[in-house]
Amino acid sequence: MKTTSILAGTALLAGEAAAQYAQAAMMRFQCNRLVIERLDPLVNPGMLQSVHLHQIVGGNSFNATMTPVEYDPPTRSTCTSCTFSEDFSNYWTANLYFHHTNGSFKRVPQYVNLGLRGKEGVTVYYIPPYDGKTKVTAFKPGFRMLAGDPLQDGPSGMQRQICHRCVPNYDQNPFGGAPCTGDDTAYLPKKYCGGGIRSTVTFPTCWDGKNLDSPDHKSHVSYPASGSFESTGPCPTSHPVRLPQVMYEVMWDTPKFKDLWPAADQHQPLVYSTGDSVGYGQHGDYVFGWKGDALQKALDARCSGDRCSALKTQSADEAVACTKPQTVAEKVEGWLDALPGGMPVMQRLHRQRKARGLPGLKGFD
Ligand SMILES: *[C@@H]1O[C@H](CO)[C@@H](O)[C@H](O)[C@H]1NC(C)=O
Ligand SMILES: *[C@@H]1O[C@H](CO)[C@@H](O)[C@H](O)[C@H]1NC(C)=O
Repeated sequence: MKTTSILAGTALLAGEAAAQYAQAAMMRFQCNRLVIERLDPLVNPGMLQSVHLHQIVGGNSFNATMTPVEYDPPTRSTCTSCTFSEDFSNYWTANLYFHHTNGSFKRVPQYVNLGLRGKEGVTVYYIPPYDGKTKVTAFKPGFRMLAGDPLQDGPSGMQRQICHRCVPNYDQNPFGGAPCTGDDTAYLPKKYCGGGIRSTVTFPTCWDGKNLDSPDHKSHVSYPASGSFESTGPCPTSHPVRLPQVMYEVMWDTPKFKDLWPAADQHQPLVYSTGDSVGYGQHGDYVFGWKGDALQKALDARCSGDRCSALKTQSADEAVACTKPQTVAEKVEGWLDALPGGMPVMQRLHRQRKARGLPGLKGFD
């Protein structure tokens, strides 16, 4: 009896959240792949190369060193791979690889999200609070932040609203509701998914109003003091400035590997370019780079979708044409003997340790 009412309550809440989500005005647009390389101006500035591989989208001024304010993406870029042509920000995530039982790796391609046009990349969202009136403040030039932690090896202490969805089919029908609700999991789905896997990375929405960055790239931002961003929960006094909610989605085209998929009771064969084959270490990086006050105008105008009279757009072909060569040439495509940068696969490491009677890695059982 008790279980039934709790479940009914959960279903109702999830239903409400899904309905609000479906109606909310939010910018949602395609940013195509700019480059896939081992560079990380946020966590490893100046380092050629960074430890693990990323896929970067956005302005083509992406560089190993992007000193806040001094290195101005709108001035340095000559193009952007995003639909909104005044957005020279950079957005990046780890890549997903298929790990063949013979030991080789191949990059999992991505497909373009429902209703959008382009090629591989990231669906970028800027979300205002769902009430349709609460104001949010656009990021300042030089602002950057990180969500998630590549070393996260279990659910404990994990950042909110970072998850995976096992997508039933390419039409995403039935739609599973708001990200990180329903059957979404922090870890990678353990079964084969007919429509691939959707990754969601959501960033915090309250800013301290002073620092463009912080040593961990996180502590200058925060989650609301109570409630949620969506429900217009108040920001903590330490971080009083309400930001738009930045969210990434990546649609991993895992059905491309259907013929090679291991039998149901075996392991799940995907691994992030960080070496994480469980998925808690999914993360995203953001370097703000909108031109002038274009983002603030778009937020004030409650722009929705990927067309808005307050913003300039470019065609899908123009956005796709904006690419950048790797800074250090490295093979990332085709069957590879190892992950780029030689990242060890953590789950394998876990099993090897257990086999030797050593403690396994946390959260990997
Ligand atoms: C990227 O950094 C390199 C080395 O610091 C510099 O020479 C180059 O001009 C930078 N790229 C852009 C677009 O500014
Ligand atoms: C693993 O299988 C792939 C696909 O058949 C093949 O191209 C690759 O060379 C194999 N790797 C090894 C180490 O045999």
